Amino acid sequence: MIATTPHILVIGLGSAGKRHARNLRSLGCEVSGFDPRADRQQETAAEGPMKSLFGSLDEALKAQDYDGFVIASPPSFHIDQIIAASAQGGWILCEKPLSIDATGCKRLANSAAKVLLGYTYRWWPPVAEFRRRLQSGEIGAVRHIRFVMSAHLADWHPWERYQDFFMANKEQGGGALLDESHFLDLLLWFVGKPKAVMASVDKISDLDISADDNVDVIASFDGGLRANLHLDLIGRPHQRHIIAVGETGTLMWSYEENAVKLSRTGELKWDSQAFTCERNEMFMGAASELLELIRGTRSAPSCTLTDGIAALEVVDACRQSAASSQSIRLNT
Ligand SMILES: NC(=O)c1ccc[n+]([C@@H]2O[C@H](COP(=O)([O-])OP(=O)(O)OC[C@H]3O[C@@H](n4cnc5c(N)ncnc54)[C@H](O)[C@@H]3O)[C@@H](O)[C@H]2O)c1
Repeated sequence: MIATTPHILVIGLGSAGKRHARNLRSLGCEVSGFDPRADRQQETAAEGPMKSLFGSLDEALKAQDYDGFVIASPPSFHIDQIIAASAQGGWILCEKPLSIDATGCKRLANSAAKVLLGYTYRWWPPVAEFRRRLQSGEIGAVRHIRFVMSAHLADWHPWERYQDFFMANKEQGGGALLDESHFLDLLLWFVGKPKAVMASVDKISDLDISADDNVDVIASFDGGLRANLHLDLIGRPHQRHIIAVGETGTLMWSYEENAVKLSRTGELKWDSQAFTCERNEMFMGAASELLELIRGTRSAPSCTLTDGIAALEVVDACRQSAASSQSIRLNT
């Protein structure tokens, strides 16, 4: 029986974890938190009421039962923490990526974990609208899709040195390929799994990091569709956009313009559909879905463990391609 005020444990109280704690409180939840860093616990408590705060996950899980969980720790910890939290049986919103590679996810095979995966762009209204219009046939047969995500890492968390942030650290799951696997997930969500990828995954900038900072992927599909993804941690100004070229037009989503645009001419003329949503809406969308799953008003998550593993299989294929300079085939 779920209490009217669900009690959620947020695991990892950095940027994403504190955001989830705020959002869950605003949705009427009681929130507890765990972070190994005392300063992160204090920052979270300073933002609003927390039922309990812990410095160890064991302690947090022994102390009480929770109605649900959010995992917002660095990706290298996600699988262990899903397994630990799932022993209590509640729904878990796990931040993306599910892990640091697809192999690590095999440990979930015998677990009964109930996971909603946080590839949060799926809850971003203009991205969902872009997908709807793409799939509606509005631009005819889609021939290629280009994804660009370019944002200098030093701008991401202005309150800390970027070298101290997990994104700098390959072992913890940092880097452009893993962190921006958002865009691989969107590719799969829009048009399914590619049959092959050719990729370069490099560290090319002056950034003082052990993770990759520049990724280029060419993905090919049965039927001739091609997609390119460019992901980097170097670019200023920041750019996030997706352009799909079809036989009868071009559809574009631009994060910076907060718009979906259509063009059917050779000139740079666009019919623009403007949005007023703010970035937090995608996190609120994911948190609301977690609460629906907890309350039983929704039976299945919209972004699943299978989706998380599929994105990581593409990540692994990109790494393999980069290491071998070969095109890598995927099981579709
Ligand atoms: N969906 C999105 O758009 C989005 C946006 C930001 C971050 N994220 C994801 O959220 C996760 C965290 O990212 P962030 O930006 O908040 O990073 P962050 O570095 O700000 O926060 C991570 C926190 O985890 C804590 N931590 C370290 N080891 C831990 C452990 N073993 N268990 C629990 N906590 C531990 C750190 O002390 C830190 O406070 C990552 O998986 C990231 O990809 C997703």
